[in-house]
Amino acid sequence: MSPDLVNIAYLAAASLFVLGLKGLTHPRTAVRGNRLGALGMLIAVVVTLINQQIVGYQVIIAGIVLGGLIGAIWAIKVPMTGMPEFVGLCNGFGGGASVLVAGAAFIESSLRSSGNLEMQFSAATVVSGLIGAVTFSGSLIAFGKLQGMVSEKAVRFPADHVLKALLLLGSIGVGVMVVLDPGDVNNYWYMVAVASVLGILLVIPIGGADMPVVVALLNSYSGLAAAATGFVLSNNVLIIAGTLVGASGFILTSIMCKAMNRSLSNVMFAGVGGEPPSDGPAMDDIYEGKVKSTSADEVAMLLDSARRVVFVPGYGMAVAQAQHAVRDLTNMLEERGIEVEFAIHPVAGRMPGHMNVLLAEADISYDKLKEMDDANTNFEQTDISIVIGANDVVNPLARDSSDTPLSGMPILNVDRSKTVVVIKRSLSPGFAGIPNPLFAADNCLMFFGDGKQAIQDLTTAVKEA
Ligand code: TAP
Repeated sequence: MSPDLVNIAYLAAASLFVLGLKGLTHPRTAVRGNRLGALGMLIAVVVTLINQQIVGYQVIIAGIVLGGLIGAIWAIKVPMTGMPEFVGLCNGFGGGASVLVAGAAFIESSLRSSGNLEMQFSAATVVSGLIGAVTFSGSLIAFGKLQGMVSEKAVRFPADHVLKALLLLGSIGVGVMVVLDPGDVNNYWYMVAVASVLGILLVIPIGGADMPVVVALLNSYSGLAAAATGFVLSNNVLIIAGTLVGASGFILTSIMCKAMNRSLSNVMFAGVGGEPPSDGPAMDDIYEGKVKSTSADEVAMLLDSARRVVFVPGYGMAVAQAQHAVRDLTNMLEERGIEVEFAIHPVAGRMPGHMNVLLAEADISYDKLKEMDDANTNFEQTDISIVIGANDVVNPLARDSSDTPLSGMPILNVDRSKTVVVIKRSLSPGFAGIPNPLFAADNCLMFFGDGKQAIQDLTTAVKEA
């Protein structure tokens, strides 16, 4: 293939990546965006395979078939709630691939030229190997924490920050040796080993519940490692794709931190989270004698005279897999002339867009989904807000107090609706581990039970009312 043709094909692939990312900015265009990105990747892979001096295709085809099969089966089987660890592990594989590909290219060139390599080439190899190794080992720990295979707690020990700084300096030091003496290829693997230990120590002190943020950050790292590998291989499309992943991963990380009212350094270094929530005395103070429980029949009676209802989904809706039951209830309410909307908090659930994906899976129209700022303008005019499995994202302490882990986090102001019905199994706290005064508010009714069962009971009660 002529170099011009290759570059045109790479340009087309890169344009498809950009269009794909643009499509992913809105739920309505996300599926098309995903397809455009995948098409771009297909073009990039096919052109690279035709263009490069490949010794034999057998191993490559076997790898594609085996890897593709494992990936496809796993992606189909993984439940929505398991998506963060799935994505986390895929990032890790991306980092590991960068380490191996850049390392193989480096070793081959070093042996061929008897260690006479250009500094730019060796430097790109070092960047790829270092970031790739941190991504690989860090992602394995993130996966382990999300799967419960590694302690979810923020594992801290004395002087851990000092040790991490020493490991960072050590890996950079060995990397400098790789650049200065590219003939000694063992140094590359020493650097990879030190950076891998650094990756473990960077993630182990972070609480399990903060892992989605870490996964987004590691996604960004895997992109940077891929971009550096692009420089090693002189492959333009890899440089572009890696840079896009690096930048978008970092933007996503910032958005998640902002929506949780946390700084990135607080997530990475403060050792927050991972402690199991506890029902402490403070909860008793808030709830004692003030919590009113309700039933499906009572809520159905309230719905009978409601004109506007807003559903507020949270992590518990994902756990209960209640989205299809919610759709059925929505349809029934709309048939009765009730206006129904969904208020979506940006960090509801455990991963970006968690609620949007679940509701889309149940064919709930995007037009009904309102983002936080938009939704907050309408709660005063809402007859009933039905909070299903959400807790922190509707906790008024975030808005009204200054000394809780949630303080300052923007919330959905459901407490300003005429009536709030909260569906959850108990008074247990959510991710932040603090009580929620909403549950004791005068206009709040607690409908205790599993999310899916409660919504199904409510649908039956509405039907019979
Ligand atoms: P949470 O505050 O975690 O509350 C979820 C609630 O769901 C729990 O209180 C639980 O109460 C209830 N629940 C669990 N299983 C249920 C079931 N089967 N049926 C009914 N209810 C069930 O969730 P949220 O309001 O969505 O807030 C998300 C939190 O996660 C925020 O603090 C956010 O900062 C954090 N976070 C989010 C992300 C992203 S990107 N979304 C990433 C990291 C952290 P019971 O046990 O009493 O049922």
